[in-house]
Amino acid sequence: MARLDVTETFRQITFPGHLHTQESLRYATDFQFRDTDTLIVTYPKSGTTWMQQALTLLFSRGDATLAQSVPNWARAPWLEQYYCPEVLKAAQGPRIITTHLPHHLLAPALQGSKAKVIYVARNPKDVAVSYYHFHKMANFLPQPRSFAEFLDEFMAGTLHYGSWFEHVRGWTRTAKDNSNFFYITYEDMWQDLRGSLARIGTFLQCPLEAEELNSSLRHCSFSSMKDNAMVNYTQIPDEIMDHSKGQFMRKGKIGDWKTMFTVEQSQRFDQVFQSEMQGSQLSFVWGCPGHLEPVEPLETRTSVENPIVSVA
Ligand code: A3P
Repeated sequence: MARLDVTETFRQITFPGHLHTQESLRYATDFQFRDTDTLIVTYPKSGTTWMQQALTLLFSRGDATLAQSVPNWARAPWLEQYYCPEVLKAAQGPRIITTHLPHHLLAPALQGSKAKVIYVARNPKDVAVSYYHFHKMANFLPQPRSFAEFLDEFMAGTLHYGSWFEHVRGWTRTAKDNSNFFYITYEDMWQDLRGSLARIGTFLQCPLEAEELNSSLRHCSFSSMKDNAMVNYTQIPDEIMDHSKGQFMRKGKIGDWKTMFTVEQSQRFDQVFQSEMQGSQLSFVWGCPGHLEPVEPLETRTSVENPIVSVA
């Protein structure tokens, strides 16, 4: 299935045709969840692969065999992608399933189900930057002309998989009344991976012993995942993901948006954020104090394609 230039539009949201068909999207929206399923939900570039790795290790009690021998998409398939039925047919034990679908598309299928849902959110400025770089390397996504245009599309919610704002709002709206729903951010995991894994383990009723937790931590670190071919996408051929144009495990930082956004873009983004998220109780960590502060003040920067500051 190549279809690199195909776009599938499903209920007004666009998806890359390389991985999605009308049939695969219908399969997802009609899916019958089992109470033993765990569903990872993210907007793209929010820490999906990281959570897939974390859950694999938690369910394996820190044993890295699976995490080092089976690709992430085969142990936690995306529900809406065409190969999912095949993978789930062969699945044994409790299933880890992943989705990027917005809440309104999956809510009917989840209604009445006791499947556990883990929602991972990331501050949207970093999501936009990560997504932009991913578009440049992924040949199944439209090639962005410039970061400025890409950012406009992100703010307008017209990129593949729809609007970040709608995604986060939709999934978190009903969260407080649902004991099977767990919300965590990329930044939570980044700042305290041990505590995050322990909390997820408790939620999944799968608490780990100290040694099992230590091993899970090791295999979830950015450096370990960057070198793990089962999660770093290096096995995907160049015609699909052009590895000369970037790496999937790119930087793994908080606040990298400061290397790309101009002051004007940042202010405009803040306005859109405030208007789209009004009424939401969510707060985000936008940078790490003392860690990623630009060497050159943001105000002096005009170019976004050649950022003055590199935090790599
Ligand atoms: P960057 O592009 O900012 O580096 P997703 O899996 O949802 O597509 O998200 C990919 C993003 O998560 C990338 O962000 C990637 O580097 C980051 N990531 C993946 N594993 C990580 C880890 N163990 N620690 C920190 N960041 C990680």
